[in-house]
Amino acid sequence: MLTRTLYASSLLSALAVAAPAPQVPGYTNADASFSVSQDEGPVATVFGPDSQIPAIATSAPSAYPRVSADPTGATSHGPYEGTATTTGAVTANTTLAQAIAPLPPNPTATYYNAQGVLLNPAPAPYTPNGGLGTNGTEPRYMVNSDFDFESIALGLYQEWIELDLFNNGLAVFSEEDFLEAGLTAEDRAYIAFMAVQETGHATLLTNMLGEAAPVQCTYDYPFRTVREFIDFNQKLTRYGESGVWGFINHLDSREVGQLLAQSIATEARQQMSFRQMLGLHPMPVWFETGIPQSWAWTYLAPYISSCPENQTRLAWQNFPGLHFVNQANPNRFSPNDTQPNEVVGNRTADPSDSTIPADESCVNLNVTGVGCGPGIARNRSEPLSFPGKLINVTWEDPGLPVGPNNSYITATSAGQPAFVAWVSQLNLTYTPLTVTGPNVGYTIQPAGEVYEGDPAVNGTMFVALTDADPFLTPFNLSMINPHVRALGLFQAG
Ligand SMILES: *[C@@H]1O[C@H](CO)[C@@H](O)[C@H](O)[C@H]1NC(C)=O
Ligand SMILES: *[C@@H]1O[C@H](CO)[C@@H](O)[C@H](O)[C@H]1NC(C)=O
Ligand SMILES: *[C@@H]1O[C@H](CO)[C@@H](O)[C@H](O)[C@H]1NC(C)=O
Ligand SMILES: *[C@@H]1O[C@H](CO)[C@@H](O)[C@H](O)[C@H]1NC(C)=O
Ligand SMILES: *[C@@H]1O[C@H](CO)[C@@H](O)[C@H](O)[C@H]1NC(C)=O
Ligand SMILES: *[C@@H]1O[C@H](CO)[C@@H](O)[C@H](O)[C@H]1NC(C)=O
Ligand SMILES: *[C@@H]1O[C@H](CO)[C@@H](O)[C@H](O)[C@H]1NC(C)=O
Ligand SMILES: *[C@@H]1O[C@H](CO)[C@@H](O)[C@H](O)[C@H]1NC(C)=O
Ligand SMILES: *[C@@H]1O[C@H](CO)[C@@H](O)[C@H](O)[C@H]1NC(C)=O
Ligand SMILES: *[C@@H]1O[C@H](CO)[C@@H](O)[C@H](O)[C@H]1NC(C)=O
Ligand SMILES: *[C@@H]1O[C@H](CO)[C@@H](O)[C@H](O)[C@H]1NC(C)=O
Ligand SMILES: *[C@@H]1O[C@H](CO)[C@@H](O)[C@H](O)[C@H]1NC(C)=O
Repeated sequence: MLTRTLYASSLLSALAVAAPAPQVPGYTNADASFSVSQDEGPVATVFGPDSQIPAIATSAPSAYPRVSADPTGATSHGPYEGTATTTGAVTANTTLAQAIAPLPPNPTATYYNAQGVLLNPAPAPYTPNGGLGTNGTEPRYMVNSDFDFESIALGLYQEWIELDLFNNGLAVFSEEDFLEAGLTAEDRAYIAFMAVQETGHATLLTNMLGEAAPVQCTYDYPFRTVREFIDFNQKLTRYGESGVWGFINHLDSREVGQLLAQSIATEARQQMSFRQMLGLHPMPVWFETGIPQSWAWTYLAPYISSCPENQTRLAWQNFPGLHFVNQANPNRFSPNDTQPNEVVGNRTADPSDSTIPADESCVNLNVTGVGCGPGIARNRSEPLSFPGKLINVTWEDPGLPVGPNNSYITATSAGQPAFVAWVSQLNLTYTPLTVTGPNVGYTIQPAGEVYEGDPAVNGTMFVALTDADPFLTPFNLSMINPHVRALGLFQAG
């Protein structure tokens, strides 16, 4: 398959050289100053031995041990049946206010450079004044506040589930199951590699926390097919990644932020790869969004069934779930035909049902614009969702047990829901909520662009019901939390 693709594209480039055609409207004078001839002789059939090139025998020095092998932890799964011995989020002995009060801009945030010249003495050659952690202090790669600790501990809960999850799909589905979903042995090896990446991420985060670092738990997954496994993965890595973008620049420890960024860059690639395996557009947005920690914890917690005794608990909030009754099903070539509640369960990040009739499915369709088998990029001629679509919602009341050992309780401090808050890319957009019954209502998917030509709402994104519509931007989005009545995950594209 890969060989065929490469061969096809080298044929294409040979053609392009022979007969250059303008393919980009408005981009004229794209004179190709190159001209090569492509050997079109027979392809290789014998592989090796290669040339013997200069090299010496060498081996790696002993490396830092990982906190877990791969695979590890409990491999049994399912819901938690016991009784929680403790409940609720971790709280401080003293809580100073019910919400953070807004303040005017920081008085020192005034730097403006109209000339583009250096305005301050440079501390050293080629070293412009300013920056944090640039004055020679020795880096300390440890969390440096309760905020840092709780954020990285949340990140570690996420890394642990990914480690188990990626292995779990490989363990429960057969080679044939994967092939039916269009995924080959090489794709399975790739997913296995991603699981191993998680052992490294878990090691890094554990070390930055110290001895109270959370350990791996036992999980309860929603998927029943390979497509649903992949869909669950693209959702889970979406909120894992966005959860980190939401807090990374608020961390006290810049050193921790540095290493975390280097691991979340990998997670971002995982998210894109899972979208490709589902035949979705790999990245239908210009910016990846950030969400508050309590949002990431709300999405993640329902899939953790229990954690070992003495597990370090988290301080974040679990919001009640928000459900999109007509959440578009990415397994359909015609997402408009999605039936109500066509998802596999009632947890907010559950995948769409992949067991729809074969003649309604796009999985094995080899038709450009319609097929949704794995692909580097797919054009869906019928979008999953679109501005102006009526979106039916239902939402849960607070007070439900969720998460490890059912020991966290969903909570909200919001009043009656009145708005639907759409969080994607750089944007927070509110639409009015029309309530039509107890915990039932609808809204309309908004239009609106980030910058000209980039519709804000697309991809796997975040939607909340709120009781107010405060103006918030990516760096103060967490001030929405006191207004959040329920929280869901929306498949816009
Ligand atoms: C918080 O209160 C508990 C119970 O009174 C006490 O044991 C603990 O030391 C207190 N923690 C702090 C950090 O003050
Ligand atoms: C160096 O910069 C850090 C912030 O990055 C600051 O906390 C510290 O006080 C500075 N040290 C000196 C000696 O200026
Ligand atoms: C959670 O459940 C596990 C498995 O039954 C048990 O070992 C652990 O002690 C429980 N933890 C809490 C906090 O109840
Ligand atoms: C949990 O912590 C208590 C108190 O520190 C300790 O006595 C107990 O052995 C710990 N249990 C486990 C399973 O680590
Ligand atoms: C899906 O529904 C929208 C709104 O009614 C409509 O404009 C669009 O044409 C429909 N898609 C197809 C492929 O029929
Ligand atoms: C979700 O589904 C489970 C299993 O069917 C059920 O036990 C639970 O009550 C449902 N929860 C909600 C909030 O509807
Ligand atoms: C898909 O369709 C194209 C064009 O009709 C054809 O060349 C190709 O072999 C088909 N691929 C598969 C896997 O059926
Ligand atoms: C794919 O989508 C792009 C952008 O929407 C469009 O310009 C292009 O013609 C489409 N290509 C195919 C093969 O459908
Ligand atoms: C989402 O992005 C894809 C890929 O560019 C595009 O085809 C689709 O129309 C977009 N959806 C919306 C609602 O703009
Ligand atoms: C969605 O909401 C509209 C408006 O209240 C209603 O007419 C329609 O029946 C709802 N559809 C579903 C599937 O709940
Ligand atoms: C989206 O965010 C950008 C950047 O802050 C802003 O310019 C734009 O007006 C926002 N668009 C919408 C629809 O909110
Ligand atoms: C959030 O930040 C924006 C500036 O980016 C500001 O206009 C807005 O008032 C802030 N919101 C709150 C509630 O502080």
